[in-house]
Amino acid sequence: MTGNEPKSAKPHHDDDIGVLLTQPRRYRALKAAFLLGRAGRLNVRLAELAGPASGADVVDIGCGPGDFARVLARTAGQVTGVDPSPRMIDYATTRSRSLPNCRFELGTAQSLLLPDASADLVTSTFAMHHIPAAHRPGALEQMFRVLRPGGRLLLADTQPTGPVLSAAVRVMARFAAHRTHDAAQDNGDPLASIDIRRYRDMVRASGFEDVKFVAVRPATGVLLATKP
Ligand SMILES: C[S@@+](CC[C@H](N)C(=O)[O-])C[C@H]1O[C@@H](n2cnc3c(N)ncnc32)[C@H](O)[C@@H]1O
Repeated sequence: MTGNEPKSAKPHHDDDIGVLLTQPRRYRALKAAFLLGRAGRLNVRLAELAGPASGADVVDIGCGPGDFARVLARTAGQVTGVDPSPRMIDYATTRSRSLPNCRFELGTAQSLLLPDASADLVTSTFAMHHIPAAHRPGALEQMFRVLRPGGRLLLADTQPTGPVLSAAVRVMARFAAHRTHDAAQDNGDPLASIDIRRYRDMVRASGFEDVKFVAVRPATGVLLATKP
């Protein structure tokens, strides 16, 4: 990572790091449009599912502009957002100035710098398909490593429920990350690339137990798991 990301609206692809997003405001506007203005409500629902205890240490991986981290920070003790995009980290830090229990740092899911057994909850929303496919098993192992025994994992990604949203994902995939790393194995189908259920076995292989899938409105699939 150099910090010299391109200024274009296109994501910055790096085979070793991932697909970095470099336009926080544009990303938030696109996400709000895709979710028909319900992005805030979705974050609240995901936070309820993740259920951080009061005072919990939380790590949000691929945090982007930090909206979900800020929702988690309402309950958690300390939330650390991690993202390899300097622009996302700057934006998230600036928007979270009034939240002393929310901090953001540069990093990748596959090379987390956080200490072993230092978190009660790890979340990663709409980010797995941005991590290079070859690094995803390593990323899940890192999530397992930083969790304390009994700690929980929440992974979420888009799960389109009807033809309109499915078409929207296919259109977005023309200029977004969905097709890049999984194109070969999924015949370029962006819906297969983002389906969070594909990680069930990988999550178990990393050591997690009680792996559960939950569909959440609007248009989101969630995997929940526990570190024994
Ligand atoms: C679609 S955004 C999701 C942002 C946020 N979690 C949300 O729910 O809106 C995906 C994020 O993953 C980040 N990313 C890309 N490669 C990554 C990697 N290897 N590890 C962690 N995050 C990565 C991108 O920079 C981007 O900010």
